[in-house]
Amino acid sequence: MPLVPLRPVLDATVKYGYAQGAFNVNAVAQAEAVIAVHEMFRSPAILQGADLANAFMGGRVDFANGTLEDKKKGARNIAEAVKKFAEQSPIPVVLHLDHGISYEQTVQCLRLGFTSVMYDGSHDSLADNIRESQTVVRSAHAVGVSVECELGAISGVEDGISHKNVNLVDVDEVREFISKVDCDALAVGIGNAHGMYQGTPHFDFDRLQACQKLSPPPLVLHGGSGTPDDMIRQAIKLGIRKINVATELRMAFMEGLESTVGQRDFYQMYRTAKENMAALARHKIQLFQGKL
Ligand code: 13P
Repeated sequence: MPLVPLRPVLDATVKYGYAQGAFNVNAVAQAEAVIAVHEMFRSPAILQGADLANAFMGGRVDFANGTLEDKKKGARNIAEAVKKFAEQSPIPVVLHLDHGISYEQTVQCLRLGFTSVMYDGSHDSLADNIRESQTVVRSAHAVGVSVECELGAISGVEDGISHKNVNLVDVDEVREFISKVDCDALAVGIGNAHGMYQGTPHFDFDRLQACQKLSPPPLVLHGGSGTPDDMIRQAIKLGIRKINVATELRMAFMEGLESTVGQRDFYQMYRTAKENMAALARHKIQLFQGKL
């Protein structure tokens, strides 16, 4: 079926009290495997490409140095692959831009067929974040595309770029932001970080609960990789409705390649990498749906 926007998928999670996984894909094989796993559960799927990683999909191996043109090319490549798989699939699929960092780059994805975009203004002042988020929402909503915004910058390493400062979301800022920005999802920093955690992460669940009491749009947890299952359950209980997973998926894919490299059989390596990643995605989906 054709791609669908994010909002109705998240509305269902709110109604039934679960979370939807949002999986970052950096290769066509990953997109194919992620959709296939969701088909097994007859669940909608959210596939996302992050700003920098899109340059990789645009053919730039040193993607940290990717230009806007590389990112655009990559965004188009991933969009075409996901659209093709989604059209052949019986489940609803959302194609989401993860961490759009400018109005121009985020809005560019509207033309490329993304059905959801994130505008991440969390590193700017609240006033700037509100202003830019409003303009993105206005443009995206005009063409039926959902928008995720962010408050409280999320630290850690994403696509090789390190953000060191932990910046927990300010509840008063959430109140002001949601009164002014009509976004469809809101990512909040509660101590979560991109990349694998060293040791057990510390999430500020009281802060999450305080955000949820404000009746915000569906809340998003970034940095899903390596989060202990019981913390995921608690986050969902307190209102998290979308959980992003990237690093663990890539690791599962690589471990699949490593385990078969001695066989020197391309097809076997490729199959095992996909199966390994699919097994991880299966676990996450079941956990996020409250089945584990
Ligand atoms: P992880 O790489 O920690 O899973 O984070 C993914 C993410 O939040 C993408 O925005």
